[in-house]
Amino acid sequence: MKKNLIVFGTRPEAIKMAPLVKEFQKHKDVFDTKVCITAQHREMLDQVLSFFEITPDFDLDLMKPNQNLYTLTSDIITGLKDVLENFNPDYVYVHGDTTTTMASSIAAFYSGAQVCHVEAGLRTFNMKSPFPEEMNRCVTGVVSNIHFSPTKTSKQNLINENKHSDSIIITGNTVIDALQFSVEKVNSLGYEDNEIEEIKKNLEIKKKLILVTGHRRENHGQGFINICEALKQIAKNNPDTQIIYPVHLNPNVQKPVYELLSEVKNIQLISPLSYPAFVWLMNQSYLIITDSGGVQEEAPSLGKPVLVMRDTTERPEAVDAGTVILVGTNKEKIVLEAEKLLQDTTSYENMSRLHNPYGDGKACERIVEYISKN
Ligand code: UD1
Ligand code: UDP
Repeated sequence: MKKNLIVFGTRPEAIKMAPLVKEFQKHKDVFDTKVCITAQHREMLDQVLSFFEITPDFDLDLMKPNQNLYTLTSDIITGLKDVLENFNPDYVYVHGDTTTTMASSIAAFYSGAQVCHVEAGLRTFNMKSPFPEEMNRCVTGVVSNIHFSPTKTSKQNLINENKHSDSIIITGNTVIDALQFSVEKVNSLGYEDNEIEEIKKNLEIKKKLILVTGHRRENHGQGFINICEALKQIAKNNPDTQIIYPVHLNPNVQKPVYELLSEVKNIQLISPLSYPAFVWLMNQSYLIITDSGGVQEEAPSLGKPVLVMRDTTERPEAVDAGTVILVGTNKEKIVLEAEKLLQDTTSYENMSRLHNPYGDGKACERIVEYISKN
């Protein structure tokens, strides 16, 4: 029997790895699959585990308040040593570009397991943006044996780095698997969600809803101050809009956002939402303003225009299709593009096209099929 260890640590990795855990669990006769969480995130990770009903086999429980990259990296590598030595997996699966991804892939490489990188090959070609994620994904690519790339572009990026074409499999992004799972579960008979009911009470249906998220390290400091100033301006100029902002728990985000936006009339600052509630709210929104990677992938599937508060993106597909615009953290640019979409119906319609550049919901099936045959 092949032994799999699936490792993740933050909210987006959990969302995107949950469907893979579920898919492997359908094949218990072929695979012994265990889940290890570093818990680089705690509450935001536990929210996801609870929705997908996943109980980890190993929990390194590493999150510390306002943690730093040095100790987090070393704690992950050291923490994984015992898990890897005791379980001795044939395959270790890591996802994307977080510190958990990079450090776990190095630990897995030391153990001699086959390192499998899910969401492989995304690149901005700028080591400082996103920071430190571009470095994380490049390092993970170096130590990985099998690269599961979401798109043709991400496969080509790896070929350009001299990775062997046979080791790169295009699967689509597992986020679409997660999104479909969530929509199906929320629509299923008897499903009840108090969080969604609570949000419904606060939604002002006559107003256009702008949904906001943000957390990127390179935006900490002045970037977040600009973002908050822009949101304030949009709220003031457009009383017919409602801005809802589930604020990331990173203290470098919480502090400026609560200090600058708590008192603004049509802005609601709320705690991070569970995945189904966030997906539900994306569906209700008119426009999404974010610096998130995952949200850039989900929004086109829901036909929602996105303004991305970054200067670079490793996800060019939706930008090329015209449903995502990069606005950076320049206050004037954010306000200008948001107001264009609020006021100009043609611009809005051009950007609200429903399309699926990132997957068809079968990425995890393809990964499991590939591993079964190799
Ligand atoms: C991390 C990832 C980033 C990913 C993001 C997703 C790195 C370096 N960064 O950034 O790539 O896009 O997650 O959200 O890997 N905190 C809590 N509770 C939580 C989560 C975070 O209190 O559930 C607070 C803690 O004080 C923690 C801090 O946020 O120390 C920062 O967490 P960290 O994972 O280091 O950075 P993120 O900004 O969340
Ligand atoms: N998300 C969530 N609750 C929220 C905000 C976002 O479940 O309150 C989900 C969102 O749907 C997406 C993921 O979290 O799948 C994105 O996480 P984040 O922006 O923190 O990380 P990134 O994708 O930028 O690495």
